[in-house]
Amino acid sequence: MEPRSMLFSPLKIGDLTLPNRITMAPTFLGYGNKDGTVSDLILEHYRTMARSGAALIVVENTGVHPSGLGSPFMLRADEDRYIAGLTELAKAIHAEGSLAFMQLNHAGRYAFMPDRMAPSPVPVGKVTPKEMTLEDIEDAVQWFAKAAGRVRSADFDGVELHGGTGYLLSQFASPRTNKRTDKYGGDAQKRRRFPLEVADAVISAVGRDFPVGYRFLASECLPDGLIVDEAIPLAEALAKTGVSYLSVMIGTHESFPVEPYVSMEGTEGYMAPYAEIIKKATPGVPVIAAGRVQSPSVAEAILQTGKADLVGLARVLFADPLWPKKAQGLVKDPIVPCNPSCSLCMRRVMTGKPAVCSQWDKSTRDAFLKRIGENSDT
Ligand SMILES: Cc1cc2nc3c(=O)[nH]c(=O)nc-3n(C[C@H](O)[C@H](O)[C@H](O)COP(=O)(O)O)c2cc1C
Ligand code: SF4
Repeated sequence: MEPRSMLFSPLKIGDLTLPNRITMAPTFLGYGNKDGTVSDLILEHYRTMARSGAALIVVENTGVHPSGLGSPFMLRADEDRYIAGLTELAKAIHAEGSLAFMQLNHAGRYAFMPDRMAPSPVPVGKVTPKEMTLEDIEDAVQWFAKAAGRVRSADFDGVELHGGTGYLLSQFASPRTNKRTDKYGGDAQKRRRFPLEVADAVISAVGRDFPVGYRFLASECLPDGLIVDEAIPLAEALAKTGVSYLSVMIGTHESFPVEPYVSMEGTEGYMAPYAEIIKKATPGVPVIAAGRVQSPSVAEAILQTGKADLVGLARVLFADPLWPKKAQGLVKDPIVPCNPSCSLCMRRVMTGKPAVCSQWDKSTRDAFLKRIGENSDT
C-alpha cells in the first residue's frame, strides 16, 4: 500500500489549520512601488501565488524602519499609512484561499542606502556601517514590535521575523558581524540577546493568539560565520520564547556567490539537513524546509523522514505557480522546474529591476516586460 501523502495532510500553526504542508517561502521580486506601498503588480503576483493551492503565503521581507530597507521597492510596514495597502494585499491572498503571513525585516548592514547601521562596523564592499548605540538597539526592538502590530491590523494571519540571509537579526547572532563587547555581543549567548528581545517584544505586541514565525539562519556558510552548533541554542531559546514556527535557511548575501554554498545550492532539498537538526532541537515547534524542493517526491520524503513539517517554495513556485496542483494531480501537465544554472530573478532584483523568470513562455515574458516598460530581460 502507498504510504499516505503527508504533503497533502493538514497541520496546525497556533489556532490556524493549514490544509496542506506547502508554503510559499518569502521571495522579494521588486514588484512594490518605489514608496514602499502595495502596487497592482504585487497584488496580481500574490493572487497568482495564493491561487497555486499553497496553504500559506509568506509575503516577502517588508521594512520595519526607513533605515533598514534592502531596496527602494521593498514593501513597508513602518508607518500606519501603509496599513490600507497591506490590508488589500491580505484580502487578495485570502480571496484565493490561502493564509497570509508577512515577513518583517531590517536589512542592517545590507540596507541599500550608504548610511547604514549594524551591530558592528564590519564593511560590506566599500561601505562601513555605523555601530548601533544601545538606544538604536532599543528603538529597533520597538520598530519590529510596532510593524508587527500593523501587520495584525491589516488582517494578516501571522507575521514572520526575518532572521536569515544575513540581515539585522542574524547580524547580531553572527560572530562575523557582531564584534560588540557590551551586553549584545562578546559571546554566543550575548549575541542571541537582540533576536530574542525582538521575538519577545513582537509576541507581546501582537498577543499570543497571533502566530509569530521566525526565518532562521542555521549556518552562514562562511569560514568565520555562524555555524549550526552555535545556531541551535538560539533555536531552542526562540522556541521557549514562543515562536510559532522556524523556517530554516542557510547562507547570506556574502555566501550565496561562493563555495560551499554554490555547490550545495544545485541539489534538491539542500537546506533540509539543517531543518532536521533544528527540528530535533525544538520538539513541538513546526519547522519549514526550503531550498530547491523541486520534486513533489523530494518534498514528500522531507516530511516522511521527519526532517521538517512543511516545505517552503520560493523560486520553485515562481517558476511554476501550478506546482501544488500538479503535485496533487489536479493539473496533469509536467512541473516547469526552476533552472539550477539560472539566477535571473535574483540578478534582476539585485540591480533594482522587477524579477522575470527565464522559464516563462515568450508571450508571458514579453507582456510582462512591456508592462514594466523594458525591451529585454537582462
Ligand atoms: C529573488 C529571491 C528573493 C528572495 N527573497 C527573500 C525574502 O524576501 N525573504 C527571505 O526570507 N528569503 C528570501 N529568499 C530566499 C528564499 O525564500 C528561499 O529560501 C531560497 O530561494 C531557496 O528556496 P528555492 O530554491 O525554492 O528558491 C529569496 C530568494 C530569491 C531567489
Ligand atoms: S528559472 Fe531562473 S528566473 Fe526562474 S525562478 Fe529559477 S532562478 Fe529564478
